[in-house]
Amino acid sequence: MRFLGKEIQSPLTLASGILGISFSSLQRVIRDGAGMVTTKSLSLEPRIGHAGPIIAEFEGGLINSVGLTNPGIHDGLLEVEKFHKEFAGVSIVSVFGADPDEFVSLAEAVNHSQADFLELNLSCPNVADEFKRPFALIPEKITEIVSAVKTVSKLPVLAKLSPNAYDVAGMASLAETAGADGITMINTLGHGMVIDAIARRPVLHNNFGGISGPCIKPLALKLIRDVYLKVNIPILGTGGVSNGLDAVEMMMAGAAAVAIGSAVYDRGLDVFRSTRQEMEAFMAEHGYADYADLIGILQEN
Ligand SMILES: Cc1cc2nc3c(=O)[nH]c(=O)nc-3n(C[C@H](O)[C@H](O)[C@H](O)COP(=O)(O)O)c2cc1C
Repeated sequence: MRFLGKEIQSPLTLASGILGISFSSLQRVIRDGAGMVTTKSLSLEPRIGHAGPIIAEFEGGLINSVGLTNPGIHDGLLEVEKFHKEFAGVSIVSVFGADPDEFVSLAEAVNHSQADFLELNLSCPNVADEFKRPFALIPEKITEIVSAVKTVSKLPVLAKLSPNAYDVAGMASLAETAGADGITMINTLGHGMVIDAIARRPVLHNNFGGISGPCIKPLALKLIRDVYLKVNIPILGTGGVSNGLDAVEMMMAGAAAVAIGSAVYDRGLDVFRSTRQEMEAFMAEHGYADYADLIGILQEN
């Protein structure tokens, strides 16, 4: 199947932030049946991120306050180059800037790499304390950042949106009008808090963090549907997918490809192989010849 003009072996994708940027783990994901991999969000300079614990499990999924730990765009792109040198696979480089100018500089840096797509992380909630409200909640910032990046980027640009915006479909529409080639959604929900009652403390050192995993899947499906009905650019769906049926549901809602994040913690890297097999079994049983036949076919009541 194809996504934004590139041939991909399956619609499954590694979500941003899950395995960092090491080219060997990115390669393993492609070998196990994914079509695309997304890097951890990269900033201009390296970031240490928050003190631990930065991630915790609860009954509905995960909560994290990683704080965008990353080695910086220069070292991050070196790993992307190694990935492309030794392996065929489609890469998405995720970037995060403190302001529109930083996003532009990051896009220019990615132009000089072999990356296939550029993803703008407009929605990470964990650094709101440092950079005020996440950009994905501010309509004029979405327009400003996407238009500025589109004037320089040689790669197709995905705008990654937050489920925390009041009108996510409206935000997607602004991104499309500003020139985005695709939408990635949803990033983590919240902030939320998980409490250790015996210690009388929040489990995360940062006290709160973004929520992901199975508990956000119904929200992701609804928002992806809303956006699918509003825009004409492809959606890279993410949020709570951990098996083949979840991925099928997300494509039926409108996703053209599906990224898996938290389930990698739960089920290991094998989740790509098993999810792909489960999807193909579903498609064979129900008469869908191609992954693309699933996109948006939900019939609403
Ligand atoms: C530990 C962790 C780190 C993440 N880091 C990033 C990141 O750097 N950039 C980003 O755009 N999203 C990041 N995300 C969000 C995921 O890419 C994804 O959008 C979200 O977790 C929903 O998918 P899931 O329920 O399959 O995890 C992170 C999620 C987790 C759990």
